[in-house]
Amino acid sequence: MVAPLSSSALPRSASLDPAQKALLPHGVARIVVVGSLNMDVVLTLDRLPDAGETVAASDLRYLPGGKGGNQAVACARHGALVSLFGSVGRDHHGNTLRLALHGDGVDVDHVSVHEGVPTGTAVIMVEPDGQNRICVVPGANARLELPEEALLNALGQADFLVLQFETPPPVIEQALLAAQAAGCNVVLNPSPVREVPAHWWPLIHTLVLNEHEAAALSGEAGDTPEAAARAGRALLARGPHQVVVTLGAQGAVALCGPAEAPSITRHPAALVPVVDTTAAGDTFLGAVVTHLAEGCPLAVAVPWGIHAASLCIGKAGAQPSIPLREQVRAFAAGM
Ligand code: RIB
Repeated sequence: MVAPLSSSALPRSASLDPAQKALLPHGVARIVVVGSLNMDVVLTLDRLPDAGETVAASDLRYLPGGKGGNQAVACARHGALVSLFGSVGRDHHGNTLRLALHGDGVDVDHVSVHEGVPTGTAVIMVEPDGQNRICVVPGANARLELPEEALLNALGQADFLVLQFETPPPVIEQALLAAQAAGCNVVLNPSPVREVPAHWWPLIHTLVLNEHEAAALSGEAGDTPEAAARAGRALLARGPHQVVVTLGAQGAVALCGPAEAPSITRHPAALVPVVDTTAAGDTFLGAVVTHLAEGCPLAVAVPWGIHAASLCIGKAGAQPSIPLREQVRAFAAGM
């Protein structure tokens, strides 16, 4: 059963009401995120255990995460007004996640609280080179239901809807159709990767994915800028208006325009120390979609995503590592 979020459970929402939003100056990004909320259980390890082996972790931390939550925070820290549709269990982790999001100015009025199911959890093992391995227990994310009227209302005032693949496919389909009805552009991050139904492709405005996801969905290798451009082109042909393939330390490739003759831009990344790559993709997406919503073309928005992700990987954890826009600007200015 879905229990509505009790307004007394949180301090007064930092979000604006529809009348206030209508008065905002042109150029302020308004973004709706439908997605997952997880408590990340982060283990820092010298090395991963082999099968049947026990190893000691040097650190254990509980940090707010989940792709939906991370992307919402990334947009908010980049200056967007963000409304989040998600769900948590009625437990300590759920309260902690909602409070953290609220503290970032994310409107959590549509984060529902479920009885009898735990908040989503991700066990994340981080090795000394900053690479991670993640196991997700969906918990309440699997129970997410979208209130149609509230969703349509939110989308009617938003520039972009952001979706990922940590929530049930029927929820994603409902959100895609609602965005179409409301005339709101969709950014899809198909992560963790799974098949995209054919009728979803034309409903996607901007597809943002990493090289592994691009390879899995296109059937083309995606691990160099040239290969990523080929994979991106194959995906562009399925219906999205724009595609961005991220390549970790190799930066990103952005494609837009007709699939037969797309405009393709390559964007390098700075060489930076890596502490933990968790949420780098979410941080990238938040900076990119905020710039798109402010009216930037894709090729201008993507470098901001790369700068933001470069800062993210220098800090541990998901939401604690997502930079503010001012920090991203300062980083870019110092390059
Ligand atoms: O993208 C990073 C996120 O993936 C983590 O915060 C974890 O919760 C998983 O959902």
